[in-house]
Parts: sequence; structure tokens; C-alpha cells
Amino acid sequence: MVKICCIGAGYVGGPTMAVIALKCPSIEVAVVDISISRIAAWNSEVLPIYEPGLDDVVKQCRGKNLFFSTDVEKHVFEADIVFVSVNTPTKTQGLGAGKAADLTYWESAARMIADVSKSDKIVVEKSTVPVKTAEAIEKILTHNSKGIKFQILSNPEFLAEGTAIRDLFNPDRVLIGGRETPEGLKAVETLKSVYAQWVPEEQILTTNLWSAELSKLAANAFLAQRISSVNAMSALCEATGANVQQVSFAVGTDSRIGPKFLNASVGFGGSCFQKDILNLVYICECNGLPEVAEYWKQVIKINDYQKSRFVNRVVASMFNTVSNKKIAILGFAFKKDTGDTRETPAIDVCQGLLGDKANLSIFDPQVTEDQIQRDLSMNKFDWDHPIHLQPTSPTTVKKVSVVWDAYEATKDAHGICILTEWDEFKNLDYQRIYENMQKPAFVFDGRNIVDAEKLREIGFIVYSIGKPLDAWLKDMPAVA
Ligand code: NAI
Repeated sequence: MVKICCIGAGYVGGPTMAVIALKCPSIEVAVVDISISRIAAWNSEVLPIYEPGLDDVVKQCRGKNLFFSTDVEKHVFEADIVFVSVNTPTKTQGLGAGKAADLTYWESAARMIADVSKSDKIVVEKSTVPVKTAEAIEKILTHNSKGIKFQILSNPEFLAEGTAIRDLFNPDRVLIGGRETPEGLKAVETLKSVYAQWVPEEQILTTNLWSAELSKLAANAFLAQRISSVNAMSALCEATGANVQQVSFAVGTDSRIGPKFLNASVGFGGSCFQKDILNLVYICECNGLPEVAEYWKQVIKINDYQKSRFVNRVVASMFNTVSNKKIAILGFAFKKDTGDTRETPAIDVCQGLLGDKANLSIFDPQVTEDQIQRDLSMNKFDWDHPIHLQPTSPTTVKKVSVVWDAYEATKDAHGICILTEWDEFKNLDYQRIYENMQKPAFVFDGRNIVDAEKLREIGFIVYSIGKPLDAWLKDMPAVA
């Protein structure tokens, strides 16, 4: 029986390995992690991450050919293929701080693999890493190998949180990069045969190592760039009276551009886009390409601009101060159908409003109070480290309360900010909400999900990103 071990039981390692176990009953899959609490959760009824369809997949294979364990060394020792799906945060100190990827966790995983291995292995980069990382990993492994042969493959993951299981069942493509030597090509074929159990062969792309590593960074940069492009347009729409939804529909009907990923919003979030672009920027700089670096930096600058523009709109609309006003925050996750809050725009928006002394009442159907308090008190980039290395008792932000109901959050509020596009926010009883709010009552829709006209009929002053402005908002222009 082929044995696979995956180091890192996170948003990527957990779901990808569960799907491999489901689709390949003849393979034994062990997912290992240094975080005891995470592994305990994977072995419990309440999985550590929320992802539609994941529970079902895990229940079908756990204990049969899918195992979660903290015994990292034992499972690495036994495995034929070792996936590495550990954190690759942005460095906060030293060379490349604020941009470069911190490969501490990756390097320690590689050294441990070299230490415990007694048989040849294929080592697969699943984490998103800077181009050329495989070369460094190869060096660590071969210099410590005691005669054992390792083949390094790059197999970046393209799943999107919220649709991870669907994406893993039907990926647009699987990408495998390897050395173009006979041993490298053989390793690529071995990994290909795993995915070929459910992915059509023509969708399994094989490339050299560096193309695979760079393709992942490029794909995330292109995706984030689309969002920043439409968000840049949204600011111009507000200034001119155009409607960003009409503009993006018209643009997206061009088959060369396509309709997906063209929704204006308060900004992109998630653990990957910003981190991977910063990493790309750093690699460009290191390769003497400052113009290319500047080009990609703009994608992040526009994203930051969009978040501060939103905060400014809120504050400007409410007579230039939100001091001691209750603002309801609906949605904290970085997108719907996930409880993930890493780099969520809600953090920056909330911090912006707190900076203007607002009182926040936050509701998200999937995010706990503890998580929200951690996010609002943690330093930038600290979130992307294994849980047990993060501060355990963050200071509570006093002006923030976290509630478990949208009606509770909005009661007596002056304004509502919708920051995540949860479906349930579309169908709230806005009449009831309006009656229980201070007047004038504002809705700032950071995701363009509410029916603004209906809300205006009820009496709300409504701001929808990139849409023609209410007279009230026009009279109170927000300076970005
Ligand atoms: P995560 O933080 O959810 O999971 C990483 C796990 O690795 C943690 O549970 C941590 O405890 C564990 N870990 C760290 N060092 C370890 C070690 N030495 N031994 C054993 N376990 C260790 O991170 P996530 O989101 O799964 O991301 C992992 C990688 O995949 C990152 O490089 C990320 O950029 C990439 N990625 C993430 C995607 C996403 O949507 N979250 C999508 C595609 C790629």
C-alpha cells in the first residue's frame, strides 16, 4: 500500500488529504501537525475549519485510510510521499521583512524529514513558496540524507476556501513540477498517478520545478489584480455616476476577459493574496526588476486604498465622527462560507472605525469572539504562525462586542457595515432592523449584496460600493 504523509493539517493539508483518501482507497494517508489542539479537532466531531462538504468527506475515510496524528516523525518515516503544507508567513524581521516569505517552518520540516528517513521518498511542496525554494530544500535534504534519495516536486494548491471540496473534486488543473532527470520524471509520474484516480489526465499539467512554483504566485497575483482593477473602477464610478456592476458586466462579457472575479468590494483578504504578492515583489527586487516589483505592489496599494476609502465614507457620512456611536459590523470572515479571518478586510475597517472611537458590535455566523478579539489585537502578519506560537491571551479590545445575531448587533446602532457576503445578510428583516436603530440610519454595503432601493424605501441612507451615491453621501464627500 502506498503511504502518504502530509505535514501541516491546516486549510490546505486537511481538505486536500481528505479528498486524496476518499478518491484513492488503496492509499493510506496520514495528516500530521505539531499543533495538538488542531489534530484533536480533526479527530473530533467539530473539525478545526469550516468548509462546506468537508465533514462528509472526513467522516467517510477517517479511521479507514485517513488518519490525523501528532506523531510527525513516525508517519514521515513510514511514508513514500511526503507533502509539506506548513505556514509560509511574511517575514516580520531581518532581511526582506514585510515582504519575503519566512521559510522557518518549511526548513524545520525538511530537516526533520532528512533526520527520520530510512527509505527513498518523494517530497512535495504543497505550501506556496518563493520560486527556487525547491533548490534550497533539495540542498537541505541531500546534505543530510545519509545516502537516501529524495525527489522534490512542486505541486501548488489552487483550491479556494469556501469551495475547497468542490475545487478539489473538480480542479481546473493540477500542476506538478519536477526535475527533468529520469528520477525527477519518474517522481512526477508517481504523483500524477495519484491525481489521475479522479482528475482527467489532460488537466494534470507537468512542468519544470521553477515554472510550477512561479505559476502559483502568478495565479494569485492575477486574481488579486482583477479585484484591485474593479475596485479601482468602483472609485471612479462613484465619482462619475457610473454603476460598477453595469461596468463589470459589460467588461466581463468580452470572452477574452470573462465574467468571473469582477465583483467590486471593500477589498480582498484571505491568507494568500497579499502574502504571495509581497513575496513576488521581493523576488522581483532580488532579481533586479524594480519596475516589475512596483507594478505588482500597486495591486496591494489599491486594496489598502479601498479599505480606507470605505472607512472614510462611513465616518464622513456620519457628520465626520463616529466617536461613541454604535456601528454594527455584519460579517468578519474574509468571504462567505468560511470561518477564516486571515487578512480579512474587516480587520482594517474595524481598526479604522476604532481609530475614530466607534463602538463596534460584530456578528459573523462562523467566527468566534475569541478569534475576532485576537485579530483586532494582533500585530500584522503574526496570524500566520502555528496556533500554539501565537499570543494566547490577547488583550481584549474594549470598544468591541461580539454578538450571535444580526438583530442584536444592529439594535440601537447608528450604522451598519456589511463586510462579508453571507447569504443570510441578504434576507434579514431590514424593516425591523431600521425600527430598532438610531436615525438617520445608515447601511454601508461593502459587498453589494442588499437591495439598496428597498432599503432606501424603508428609510435607510445606503452606500453601495461603486454605485451612484445618495444625495446625502454626495454632500459629504470622503477624502481618501
Ligand atoms: P494553516 O496555518 O491553516 O496550516 C499550516 C499548518 O502547518 C498549521 O496547522 C501548523 O501548525 C502546521 N505546521 C507548521 N510547521 C509545522 C511543522 N514543522 N511540522 C508539522 N506541522 C507544522 O495554513 P494553510 O492555509 O493550510 O496554508 C499552508 C500553505 O498552503 C501556505 O503556504 C499557503 O500559502 C498555501 N496555500 C493556502 C491556501 C488557502 O486557501 N489557505 C490555498 C493554496 C495554498
